[in-house]
Amino acid sequence: MPIRSRIVGCGAYLPSRVVSNDELATRVDTSDEWIQQRTGIRQRHMAADGEKTSDLALAAGRAALANAGMKPEELDLIVLATTTPDNTFPATATKVQAALGMTGGAAFDVQAVCAGFIFALSVADNFLRVGQARTALVIGAETFTRLLDWKDRGTCVLFGDGAGAVVLKADPDATPQSRGILSSHLHTDGRTYDLLYVDGGPSTTGTTGHVRMDGQGVFRHAVGKLAAAVDEALAANGIKPEEIDWLVPHQANQRIIDGMAKKLGMGPAKVVSTVARHANTSAASIPLALAEAAGDGRLQPGQIVLLEGIGGGLAWGSCLVRW
Ligand code: ACO
Repeated sequence: MPIRSRIVGCGAYLPSRVVSNDELATRVDTSDEWIQQRTGIRQRHMAADGEKTSDLALAAGRAALANAGMKPEELDLIVLATTTPDNTFPATATKVQAALGMTGGAAFDVQAVCAGFIFALSVADNFLRVGQARTALVIGAETFTRLLDWKDRGTCVLFGDGAGAVVLKADPDATPQSRGILSSHLHTDGRTYDLLYVDGGPSTTGTTGHVRMDGQGVFRHAVGKLAAAVDEALAANGIKPEEIDWLVPHQANQRIIDGMAKKLGMGPAKVVSTVARHANTSAASIPLALAEAAGDGRLQPGQIVLLEGIGGGLAWGSCLVRW
C-alpha cells in the first residue's frame, strides 16, 4: 500500500501589532486608496522589537501540534520555510526544535520565498512517502517587514509578518480515496532572479539588504505560471477544475488571486483570501490561510483543496490535498 501524508493539525500566529494603510501613510508617501485598489491590502501585522521568526514559528508550531492532539516528542521532522531566518546559520528550524523539546529527528529550513510553504510541504511529504519520517511539522514563518526599505513605497506597503504551520502524519494504508496530500508540483526559473530579490547577503555585501522588486514583471509571470502548475496538479490526479472545493492561494495580491480564481472558473465564495488583513507574509501566507479556513469550519474532511504560490526565484508550485 502506498503511504500518504495527511494534514492532521493546523496552527497560526500573528504578531499583536496591526498597522493599517492609514498609519503607514503617515510615514510613507502612499494612501489607503492606492494600496487597496492595487492589492486589496487593508492592514498588516508587524513583529514587535525583539520578536524573531523563530518566536512566530514556535507559536504557530505549538498551535498546530495542539490542534493535532500531538506532543513534540512524536515529531520526526521539522521543515521550516522562511526567507527571514533568525541568523544566517544555523537553520531557524533547529531553534524551534529545541524550544519544542524535540531532541530526535531532524529540523531544517527551506528557502523558496513566497513559494516556500509549497516547497516545504512537498519536501516533508516526500520524507513521509518514502518512510524516512512518520510525522512532520511544516512551518511557514516570516518577519518579512525587516527586509523592507521604507523609502521604497512600491514594495514596503505590500508585506507583513506572521507564521502558520501544519502537522503531517503518514497514513501507511492509503487508498486512492484516502485523505492527504495527493501531489505537489515545484518549479523555478533562475533566469528571472532579478525580478524579485534582496540586495544583500553574506557573500555579496555582508549585510542583510532590502527587497527589490519589478512589480509589473512579477505580475506578468504570476497568473500564467501558477495556472500551468495548477493544470499539472489537476492532470496528475484526474481532477477537473469544477471538482476543487477550495482554492487556498499564496496571498500576495487580490488581483493575482482573482486572476487565478477566474482561470479556474471559481467564484469568490470558494477562495480563501486573507490578504486584506495579513498583506503578503511570504512563506507564512498559505498556512495562515489554511489555519483560518480549517479553524472556522470552511475546510471539511474529504474536500479537494488546491494550494498554489509564486515568489522570488522565480519559484512557484501547487499542491492538491484531499482534506
Ligand atoms: N503608493 C502610492 N503610489 C505608489 C505606490 C504606493 N505605495 N507605489 C508605487 N506608486 C506609484 C508609482 O510611483 C507610479 O507613479 P507614476 O505613475 O507617477 O510613476 C504609480 O504608482 C504606478 O506604479 P507601478 O509600480 O507601475 O504600479 P502597479 O500598478 O504596477 O502596482 C504593484 C504595483 C501593486 C506592486 C503591482 O505591480 C503588483 O501587484 N505586482 C505583483 C507583484 C507582487 O505582488 N509582489 C509581491 C511579492 S511576489 C509574490 O508574492 C507573488
